[in-house]
Order: sequence, then C-alpha cells, then structure tokens
Amino acid sequence: MSHDEFPTDQPAVVTCGLPYANGDLHVGHLRTYVGGDSFARTLETLGQETAYVSGSDMHGTPVAVNAEQQGVDPEDFALEWHEQYAETFPKFNVEFDNYGHTHDETNTELTQEIVKTLEDEGHIYEKEIQVAYDPVADDHLPDRYVEGTCPYCGEKARGDECDEGCQRHLEPGEVEDPKSTITGNPAEYRERTHKFFRVSEFSEYLTEFLDGLEGTSNAQNQPRQWIEEGLQDWCLTRDMDWGIDYPGEEEEDIVLYVWVDAPVEYVSSTKQYSERVGSDEYDWERVWKDEGEIVHVIGRDIIQHHTIFWPAMLEGANYNAPRAVAATGFITINGKGLSTSRNRAIWAKEYLEEGFHPDLLRYYLMTTGGLQQDVDFSWDAFQEKVNGELVGTVGNFWYRSLLFAYRNYDGTPDVGVSPDVEDRIEGAIGEVREAVNDYSIRGIGQAATRLAQFGNEYIQRHEPWKLTDEEPEKAAQVIRDCVQIAKAVGVLIAPITPDKAQALWEQLGEDGAVENARIEDALEAPPRRFAEPGELFEKIEDERVDELNEKLADRVAAAGDDGDDEEDAAEGSETAGDTDDDSDSDDNDPAGDLEPLLEDRIGFGEFQDLDIRVGRIEVAEGIEGADDLARLEVDIGFESRQVVAGIKQLHDLEELPGEKIILLANMEPAELFGVESNGMILAAGDEADLLTTHGDADIGEKVQ
Ligand code: MF3
Ligand code: ZN
Repeated sequence: MSHDEFPTDQPAVVTCGLPYANGDLHVGHLRTYVGGDSFARTLETLGQETAYVSGSDMHGTPVAVNAEQQGVDPEDFALEWHEQYAETFPKFNVEFDNYGHTHDETNTELTQEIVKTLEDEGHIYEKEIQVAYDPVADDHLPDRYVEGTCPYCGEKARGDECDEGCQRHLEPGEVEDPKSTITGNPAEYRERTHKFFRVSEFSEYLTEFLDGLEGTSNAQNQPRQWIEEGLQDWCLTRDMDWGIDYPGEEEEDIVLYVWVDAPVEYVSSTKQYSERVGSDEYDWERVWKDEGEIVHVIGRDIIQHHTIFWPAMLEGANYNAPRAVAATGFITINGKGLSTSRNRAIWAKEYLEEGFHPDLLRYYLMTTGGLQQDVDFSWDAFQEKVNGELVGTVGNFWYRSLLFAYRNYDGTPDVGVSPDVEDRIEGAIGEVREAVNDYSIRGIGQAATRLAQFGNEYIQRHEPWKLTDEEPEKAAQVIRDCVQIAKAVGVLIAPITPDKAQALWEQLGEDGAVENARIEDALEAPPRRFAEPGELFEKIEDERVDELNEKLADRVAAAGDDGDDEEDAAEGSETAGDTDDDSDSDDNDPAGDLEPLLEDRIGFGEFQDLDIRVGRIEVAEGIEGADDLARLEVDIGFESRQVVAGIKQLHDLEELPGEKIILLANMEPAELFGVESNGMILAAGDEADLLTTHGDADIGEKVQ
C-alpha cells in the first residue's frame, strides 16, 4: 500500500513513545519528544490536520521495581513523575494536544475493551508456562524483577528484554540462570496459567503491513528479520498487582503486561483530546478506526513493540494501521553513551537552570540528528551550532534585514518581491515538503537555515547600503526581498524554534501566532510598517563552555564507580528515545547504530600522511584523577612512545604489557591530565577493542 503525500485530507495523529514515569528527563528523552513536536508542527504548517499526543507510562516493572526500591506505593511514585513530565515538556516548547497517563480511566477502559475484542475475535488463549519465582521471598518475578542470560545472544538480560545484547523482547521463562533483582536470590521456575495473544497468526498481515510502512529505515528492516525467524505468541499477563486488570478477571492476581496498555494510551490520549475540543474539530475514531494518518515517533529500542505487537493488536481489534514508525538514533554525550547512573547526561532541569533558551537545544537536536541520525551532544558542539548557525546565519540575517528596512523604510518597502527570490522561497518550501515526506526533521531545519544563508549572500551581493542614495529603487527592491526571505525563514523554522520565530513574527508586525501560519504565508508580504527590531540570538562565550564542560566532568567523576551496570539496569530508565547504558554497541541494528559511511573519498597520498605503526605495549597504568585514562608506553621499533588512551575502565591494564597494538604515530601530541600523549592507539567499538596484527609483522612496521 502506498500513501498519498503529506498533507492529505485525512486527520493525522503524531504520537511519541510514552516515557516511563520513573526518573528525571534528560536530553535523550528530549530528542524524541522535540522530534515528534517539530514533526507535528511542520505537518500543521503544511495544512495537515494534526494532533500530537503522548502520556506517561505508569505501569509495569520499570515503575514497580523503582517504587519498591524507594519503599513507596507505585501509584504515588508514578503520579509524581507524571506531573513533573507534564510540567517539563512545555518548558521545551513540546506542546502536546493531550498528555495523559496509562493509569487514568480512559486508558483503563479502552485497554480492557480492546483486549476483550481480541478475545472475542479468538486471538487470545490460555497456556501454562514457567515463570520465575523467588522461593525465599515467596514472590513471582516478572520482567525487571528478574535478570539472567539471554538465550539468543548470551548477554546479560532482563526478564523481558535483552537490553544489553541483541535487544530482543523476551517472553516469560526465556531468560537463563534467572535471579531476583531485588533480593539477588536465584529464581526457580514455576508453572502458572497466562493469557497469550496469537501474534504468530499475523505474520502474513505484518509482512504486508511492513511493505507499506513509512518512517525510518531501521523500523522497516529489523522487523522483517524477526518475522522470517518466526513470530512467537505473546504473553499478555503478569503475576503482579500494579497494572490494569485483565478484563473480567479482577479477582485473579494477574494484570495486563505493561506493553498492552501503554500503546493503547496513544488512542486514549487522542480520545481525550477529541473529547476536549469536540469531535467536529478532531475526531479520534476517524483517525484510529477509519482513515487517519498515524505516525509513531519512538526510541530505537522499542521498534519490535511498534512494528509487530502493536500493529497486530490494532489489526486484531479492528483498528487502523500506523502509517509510519520513525525511530530515533543513538545519543552520546561527548562521544560516550549517555548513562544516567554515571551522571553522564544533560538533564532537562539542568539545561533550563543554566538559563539557555529551549529553542537552542531544539535546534541543536533537530539539525544535528533529527530523527534517525545519531546525536552526540557536547557543550562545544552546542556552542558551535548556536554561534555559527543561529547567531551567525539566521539571527544575523533577520536582524540586519529588519534593521535596514526599519531605518530606511519604517518597515517593508512598498514594492513587490523579485521573481528570483520568490522562486528561491518556493524552493525552500519544496524542501520542507520533501523532508516531511521523508520523515527528516533535519531536512526541515536545514531548509530554513539554507534560506537564511541565501539571504545573507543576497544582501552581501547587492550591498543595498551603497544603493540608497544613487539607486533608491534598487535599494528598496533588495530590502523588500530580504524582508520576505526573513519572514519565510521564520515560517519555516517555527516548528523547530517556535519562540524565536514568534519573536520575529512580532518584530515584523504580524498579528497572531506564527504557529498558525501556513507554509504559503512564507510568500505573503509582511505588514508595511514595523518597529525597531532587536537581536534574537546571543552568542555563547568560550568561558561559559569551559565552565559547563568542567561541571559535567566533575559530575561524571563524582558518580565514579558506583555507577555500575547493575545500577543502570535497576534504574530502568531507558525510556522511549533514551538508550541508557554504555552497551549499545552490541546492538544488532546496523542501520540505526553504526556511524554512517563517509561519502568523501580520500586519495592514497592522504592515506600515506598517516604514519600507522605496529607497536607493543610495554607499560600500562592508570592516570590518577582520570576515570577512563591509562598511560601506556609503546615500543614502536625506533623508540618507546608514551600514549594516553581512554581504556582504563575497559581493559585489565595488568594484562596489556606484551600486547601488540596499532598506533597512529604522527598524531599531534596532546596533554591529558598533565600527561603527554604522543600517538593514538587504534581501537573499535564502545569496549575499545584494540586493533592488532595476526601474523609476523614486526614491531615498528608501517600499516599500509
Ligand atoms: N515506556 C516505554 C519505554 O520507555 C515506551 C512505551 S511506548 C508505548 O520503553 F508504545 F507503549 F506507548
Ligand atoms: Zn540477546
């Protein structure tokens, strides 16, 4: 099935994976929610009727385990986080049309109704299975209450997901060598009766569904492989109290698995929106049951749930199928995996407390990685982006055009726009349209920034300041064109930097809100008169960046060794869009995980400039005060080189002397923690797998 291009005549709903209500929000979450928000806003600009919804994920063991560890009631615990999220999102201009939660009445009822339909349609059956049980504590151990070994890849895994290895969803009873995450007791397996959803019967349907699915390529390709490997039925119930009761069986001590009621919140949240504005304004049933455009924006770690289980549930319960699943890429901080327990994260609260405008982060996240691409956040790169693109290109163009117009014409000069400039703006509109249909938020931002860049070149080329006296008509024309470009940039960039675009809008003397503007308004003349403009972006100074870097480094150092993997797992905060650990390198998703191949080719000469040698480690020791760094002495034939490498945590340093390695010998010397580094050891992957040779290459030989 192929879809009509956006905008279509049908209403759309853009949803974002629900965050588990169990911990602070950080930049890993934000990139997903800002992504959904920017996408939904752009759809609206294109004239597509759109609702943007999400909600907090209140149930399941990610919430229950954390609440239990803190000795509080899961409902109170989750509600508190829910409220915090509901307050935080708007501070980043993430404006949901509805933000509900999975424990509210709408979702409880709708979930039970959908399960009931699945049952009536014969998609559910009962089966006796083995579930993990702690004989000492006399408790069942569903999902995150248990951990062990993944039967597929052998990595450490949680009860319901191989979070550190192959990322597969695991069914109860699958994890090997189970032990309780609460008591550490080895678990036994016990027989229990549970409800199962016949996912296996949907293989053919899902294959067809995937053929028509839009979104990011990882969301289309991974599930095909899972289907080929053979789909398993899906256990829908869990032995626990916290959750939504299986319909009609309130007495039993089983509840629905969190992944049943969580995605239903997409529907419930849309329904609440519809009920608030009235179904004439937005009809949730039309979208979900009839002919709407459903777009799911999610974290890459939950593709399976959104491309297998959820569409099967929708189909089985006679609902509409999603049009697109857009899965966000990986996020790193200074090149290393974001880790909440290691405090290697940029927290939402922290960012705001530093006094930065939310639009700056939005722009950074959306134009660095957009939806699918990986994002590395560093304060240095943030500064570069803000100063270079927002201050230097967009802000500079806005300010100089409007100021010139104000000073010489009290506003917009009274002439028409040049056809060339009109064409250029139409070109930019076309780029946005195309980007939306490619689910490329990055493309949307780039279209706006490139247009501002064009504006700067235009003004530079025509030098209107030289024309005002001699050729006043020409000067007026150039400025008229620039004012139009400035407005167009505002309309195009508004979905990404809504406040800043609104400020421009007001400077132009426009009425109303830029978010209500349509993309065609980019070509409409701004009001004839406007007041003196001000600058909308401010440069971030180097000292500020140094300060922020230091704070982050201190924070990570302070979190130190207690941030071990165990804690990471128990923390359970790899929510929608977040990849909270350092182990994602093991992921089997090449499309979503690997750095893209560089397009630019280099000549052999350029390769020859790299003096890469075979070496042998002679000495390896930690550097005091540096968490990750080791000092190595490496024999490279001619001499012994001192090198600093970030491998202290990743290798047993005592084992290293004698190891053959590969060293880039003509790397510029650098000083790290007071130790000079005179070369670079080559390694691959997050675990710093050291490159070596396997034959008789001598120490000192050049790699060629
Ligand atoms: N809370 C889940 C997570 O963070 C996401 C739920 S998304 C939904 O992984 F589809 F279930 F809504
Ligand atoms: Zn695995």
